[in-house]
Amino acid sequence: MAVGVRTQNLRKVYTAPPPLGAGGGFIARADAKGSKPAKTQIAALDGLSLDIHPGEIFGLLGPNGAGKSTTVGVLTTRVRPTSGQAWIGEHEIWKAQATVKHLIGVVPQRPNLDFSLTAREILTFHAAYFGISGEERKRRSDGLLEKFKLSDRGNQMVRGFSGGMMQRLSIARAMMHNPQVLFLDEPSAGLDPQTRILLWEIIQEYNQDGKTILLTTHNMEEADALCQRLAIIDHGRVIALGTSAELKGSIPGGFLLRLRFAKHAPELAERLRLLAGVREVRPADSNGADVYADRGGSLVPEIANLAGSAGAELSDVHISEPSLENLFLHHTGRSLRD
Ligand SMILES: Nc1ncnc2c1ncn2[C@@H]1O[C@H](COP(=O)(O)OP(=O)(O)OP(=O)(O)O)[C@@H](O)[C@H]1O
Ligand SMILES: [Mg+2]
Repeated sequence: MAVGVRTQNLRKVYTAPPPLGAGGGFIARADAKGSKPAKTQIAALDGLSLDIHPGEIFGLLGPNGAGKSTTVGVLTTRVRPTSGQAWIGEHEIWKAQATVKHLIGVVPQRPNLDFSLTAREILTFHAAYFGISGEERKRRSDGLLEKFKLSDRGNQMVRGFSGGMMQRLSIARAMMHNPQVLFLDEPSAGLDPQTRILLWEIIQEYNQDGKTILLTTHNMEEADALCQRLAIIDHGRVIALGTSAELKGSIPGGFLLRLRFAKHAPELAERLRLLAGVREVRPADSNGADVYADRGGSLVPEIANLAGSAGAELSDVHISEPSLENLFLHHTGRSLRD
């Protein structure tokens, strides 16, 4: 039976700076006299509530430092929240850690593989922790090495692997005990475009068995391609939630229609502005106009009619759909790519 994931009002306040080498860009600042460092208080999660449905691929999208990895940390028993609750299925994470660990698989943002083991050992040792028989361990590791195109590397030590190979192995390891819920923290970071597509296929296939998948990403294309629903988070809070289409449709004027005219009538811009759903019209080049609107294709016949009656001749229309990037900009005034 598919297993959901839920959090209620999670807060995580770090009271010490991140450990050296952990990244995150934190610098402990000295006070005005330069004597003692200022007291650290980082609210990584600030009342985060999520309800991830059983069997869904759910994406957490947000800029650096938004709290994505901290959320994954709490849900996978690695980070103890300051307050709030979290469940995997009906199991409250901090009260049923052993049960929860059997239900979940984790791919951390930074691969934590043992360099002195071979790829095959990484997989089979992991399965052994979960009490999987020797024969089954071999069958599963062969299958996953093949799936992740690592068969020819199976007996090589991880030390000599490229970053992308380690990432693939790390995902394969998380799948070895066939967990009901898979957490992937930026799974495609460092993968080449072809391998990224392969990974997306593997994730979708895994999900077809009714498995629940939570992934974090800053990549909007990935979120669009994979996730049935998304939460956009910033400063440890959910700022928008829904399907990619819902989120993109929720911003006014998210569609952009670039119009080009063979014969242009300058007064047309005024009349275009009056069409239902049009938010803004900007002149472009000498014979074009950019129309920002709440809808896309359905406006085109109306624009063509209007152009005809104004003596203009429409020669080209290009419609761009609203993007998650625009949505983030709309909610935060910042770009996701910053
Ligand atoms: N172990 C830690 N100790 C102290 N502060 C931490 C620790 N881990 C994370 N933080 C801080 O918590 C905040 C959220 O970090 P988190 O790693 O959850 O962000 P993220 O959304 O995963 O970012 P990224 O996209 O860079 O991976 C940041 O300000 C970070 O510096
Ligand atoms: Mg992270």
